[in-house]
Amino acid sequence: MVRTIIEPFRIKSVEPIRQTSPKERERCLELAGYNLFLIPARDILIDLLTDSGTSAMSTEQWAGMMRGDESYAGGESFFRLKAAVDDLTGFRHMIPTHQGRAAERILFTVTCKPGHIIPSNTHFDTTRANIEFAGARAVDLPLPEAADTQARLDFKGNMDVNALERLIDTEGAAKIPLVMLTVTNNSGGGQPVSMANIEALKAVCGRHGIPLYLDACRFAENAWFIHEREPGYAEWTPKRIAQRMFSLADGCTFSAKKDAFANIGGLLCSNDDPIARQETDLLILTEGFPTYGGLAGRDLDAIAIGLVEVLDPDYLRYRIISTEYLGRHIADNGVPIVEPPGGHAIYIDALRMLPHIPRTQFPGQALAVELYRHAGIRSVEIGSVMFGAAARHELLRLAIPRRVYTQSHIDYVVEAILEVNDHRREIRGLEIVEEPPFLRHFSARFRPCLS
Ligand code: F0G
Repeated sequence: MVRTIIEPFRIKSVEPIRQTSPKERERCLELAGYNLFLIPARDILIDLLTDSGTSAMSTEQWAGMMRGDESYAGGESFFRLKAAVDDLTGFRHMIPTHQGRAAERILFTVTCKPGHIIPSNTHFDTTRANIEFAGARAVDLPLPEAADTQARLDFKGNMDVNALERLIDTEGAAKIPLVMLTVTNNSGGGQPVSMANIEALKAVCGRHGIPLYLDACRFAENAWFIHEREPGYAEWTPKRIAQRMFSLADGCTFSAKKDAFANIGGLLCSNDDPIARQETDLLILTEGFPTYGGLAGRDLDAIAIGLVEVLDPDYLRYRIISTEYLGRHIADNGVPIVEPPGGHAIYIDALRMLPHIPRTQFPGQALAVELYRHAGIRSVEIGSVMFGAAARHELLRLAIPRRVYTQSHIDYVVEAILEVNDHRREIRGLEIVEEPPFLRHFSARFRPCLS
């Protein structure tokens, strides 16, 4: 048996990427106020800003795009998507939305009132923002052990079930319209959630009559971790594991920009007839007719096909191992990462790597800037720039787009990070010179600190 794990695809269409000189990159950084969101993509060599909407679509997906039925109502594309979602999730109701956050907005507008609480393992930032916009409170209940970036737990993304029970006891079930479980736990380091944790949450929610929802963006990567790590699932296919995950939930939000390999799209599913009716009304108001949501018919076909392709064991094995390859190669050479490596991204613990830069000088942002300056790689700060005073860690996320970069691209990233690590003591912190009132990570401007 040949043991090398290869990309399980060959490349039919290529998109050039552009090398820039150190001088050009310095100029780009100055123009962008040291905020990588403000650098044009043509000046980026390898873009690890996000794994969202950045996947390469397959031959079948492109063929599906041509089959797209653009009828306003009752298009064939919708029924093909519905069949794929029914087969995978079994939810009674499914509506398409233009992306994940649109599904979140509709769900929380319908279910939340001021004073309500939505617990999660860790809310993604758009989820938290949509809950707060509806007047409710978003509460994160990760495992206490997950606070240690170095702790190597198999299912570090789990929700703390005891903490959920305590919250229900003190606040009362009437205040909690639903519990949200993010799989995998993106803001918690791309860490997976075990089937046992989903079962335990289902039992607690069931006792109190609270619906359990999945934020299912990376459901297939989560299913693969269960296959690999959880006793009893080694013989199960990723599809069967995913079907069981969904069967334990009462509904889900989904961004098709991740584990459906689509460049745009989302879904909102539920088993509750009255809730689904209200969601559909709101969908028509803000997204579109229920058989297309905010999407073109061709997008629905791309999602339907992606949902099947993502569960291919060869793909998932390659996907999780190539992310781990990046993580292990930098961590084993002295770069502190959130352990163990996540599914879609590697998170560098910038505060540990750059102890000479205080949190007030944004070590994660300083590291992102240096990685771009050194090698043209774009990453994203997840720390005090993104979350302000609420930040728990100062992290740098390297998110890997699906089926886009090859092993040699990843080797380039490894080499670049190790070189940056070698001269880390020369990296300087940043100070903010221009700060928007909200979502400051998208548009704040910085300058290097002098000392
Ligand atoms: N939930 C999770 C766990 C996410 O990671 C995202 C998006 C969303 C919801 C929202 O979905 O973008 O389709 O509206 N995450 C991207 C990221 C943006 O870079 O992690 P969306």
